[in-house]
Amino acid sequence: MFNPHVLAAELHPRQVRYFPQIASTNDLALTLLNQNAPNGTIVIADEQTKGRGRLGRTWYAMPGTSLLFTVIFRLPQSSLPRLTMLGGLAVCETLQQMAIQDVGIKWANDVQIRGRKVAGVLPEAAWDGGTLAGAILGIGVNVTVDFANSPFRDTAISVQDVSDTPLDRLDLLKRILARLDAWADRLESDRLFEAWRDNLNMIGQYVTVEGRRCKAVRVDTDGALVISDENGVLQRVLAGDILLG
Ligand code: BTN
Repeated sequence: MFNPHVLAAELHPRQVRYFPQIASTNDLALTLLNQNAPNGTIVIADEQTKGRGRLGRTWYAMPGTSLLFTVIFRLPQSSLPRLTMLGGLAVCETLQQMAIQDVGIKWANDVQIRGRKVAGVLPEAAWDGGTLAGAILGIGVNVTVDFANSPFRDTAISVQDVSDTPLDRLDLLKRILARLDAWADRLESDRLFEAWRDNLNMIGQYVTVEGRRCKAVRVDTDGALVISDENGVLQRVLAGDILLG
């Protein structure tokens, strides 16, 4: 469990909302967004009972075994596509800075170690009529989750699995937030896109998209994946599941 006082002190001046248990940090962050919570506000939980993943999936981890948090961003609409890249990139760079080997991003934003998922990212936008009210970036990182006897034993991994020393979740959180902050005022820069693109681990490889075998050709600056089918016809994919191979 986190100590709320330590969290608030260590993350100062960021506004911190911590809960031992919550339905979903994304859900509360969306509520706070609509209540005018400032840019940078973070919602953190030790356990989620209705954690949400991409494509309508659920996201669950035993209490205290993951980093589960959501950050509020006040940003222009033109930056929205880059927020999606930011989450995956920040976690990827954090792990690389900790000298963890074989870290990459599986399009769009799964962070992998040795080809296994270690973190997922769920950005969401809130609209006021046709105007962007703000956005949130939910991040879940497997820190000490034991996947040995789970259906995910071959596809998921925890950071602790590749670390020789015991991990401190607060230290990991601070490192990720530092990478988010480092990019926050350069969201629309070429540099951010290039850093994200250069960490993608599937470009040039064959992938399966909606049951069809295609080649992942490149990504566009809005984050779309460009795939080529067996006839060489190019198609842009904006969301969905891509299987390697
Ligand atoms: C995915 O890979 O499908 C995205 C998973 C995102 C999970 C995080 S955990 C913190 C935040 N709150 C949620 O309900 N979901 C995100």
